[in-house]
Amino acid sequence: MSAYKSFAVIGAGTIGLPIVEALVARGASVVLFSRPGSTKKTIPSGVPVIEVDFTDVPALSAALREHKVDVVLSTVGTPWLDTQKSLVEAAKLAGVKLFAPSEYGFPTEGQTEGALGVKMQIIDQLRQLGIPTVQFYTGLFTEGIPMLTGYSEHGKIKIIGDGEKFASFTAISDVAGFVAYVLTTLPPAQLENREFRMEGERIRMKDLGKLFNTTVEHLEPVPKEKADIFTMLLEVLNSGMGSTGWDVVNNREGSGADSAGSANALWPGHQWKGIKEVLKL
Ligand SMILES: NC(=O)c1ccc[n+]([C@@H]2O[C@H](COP(=O)([O-])OP(=O)(O)OC[C@H]3O[C@@H](n4cnc5c(N)ncnc54)[C@H](OP(=O)(O)O)[C@@H]3O)[C@@H](O)[C@H]2O)c1
Ligand SMILES: *[C@@H]1O[C@H](CO)[C@@H](O)[C@H](O)[C@H]1NC(C)=O
Repeated sequence: MSAYKSFAVIGAGTIGLPIVEALVARGASVVLFSRPGSTKKTIPSGVPVIEVDFTDVPALSAALREHKVDVVLSTVGTPWLDTQKSLVEAAKLAGVKLFAPSEYGFPTEGQTEGALGVKMQIIDQLRQLGIPTVQFYTGLFTEGIPMLTGYSEHGKIKIIGDGEKFASFTAISDVAGFVAYVLTTLPPAQLENREFRMEGERIRMKDLGKLFNTTVEHLEPVPKEKADIFTMLLEVLNSGMGSTGWDVVNNREGSGADSAGSANALWPGHQWKGIKEVLKL
């Protein structure tokens, strides 16, 4: 059984809410931090909702103390990643034992630009303050493929580049289940300052056409300042960084414990969902 008794999930969004549900399903004690006035979703019964401004350090640290929180799981959305700086300060004041920053995407180590650069700044801040971190890399959520590729709109798979690079995709339920499983079973020594690289399915972008029984269209690269979020993600996938095993610093696929999907084995007996299963193709 885990050394951690109390968990705080920050943000009730796409990945935050499933994580709350998965922790509750494993019998963990969970509190949810949500902003005052944000749309309330269906929260599992028995989970206290703390309404707090995510930039209010004294209020955040008081709530963390009050609930004797050992582990903070931040799930703030991409546009607001920098608000985590207040949360990290609050976690330090409250003596939090483990902090899972809002990752849930591509490997962050060594990133300097854009949203991934901000994610790296948060890791650096946590390290400077001596707060143990745990980073969950998932690749893209499988559920997002139809939107990302334009399939939901056009019935075709649009990619950038030749599509030869592999990318990792993981179902939201598997991400949440894995996070809850390891945090409630592994000892601190196996969680602190670790990067977990999960992977539901690994596929070359060009091979999505066959899965969806449709044509693959190759988009021209778009200048950075004109790129929307989907274009930016497709660029990431074209660079190879979409694999949870990607080594950003050395610009290559990692091996052994650093390879894509290397974390899957930590959840014994679990059947990870593939793309066909999740999207019912
Ligand atoms: N791998 C993928 O395909 C994928 C897809 C999406 C996201 N992600 C990553 O997963 C993480 C969480 O993203 P998400 O999609 O789950 O986020 P989200 O649903 O867009 O938002 C999560 C929460 O952020 C909080 N938030 C909203 N506005 C805010 C503001 N102004 N200041 C501070 N917090 C605010 C809200 O909390 P309350 O409503 O509780 O107040 C919201 O529910 C991010 O790191 C993101 O990059 C990955
Ligand atoms: C794939 O698409 C083609 C052409 O649109 C269609 O004729 C065929 O029945 C589809 N195959 C499957 C397995 O859906």
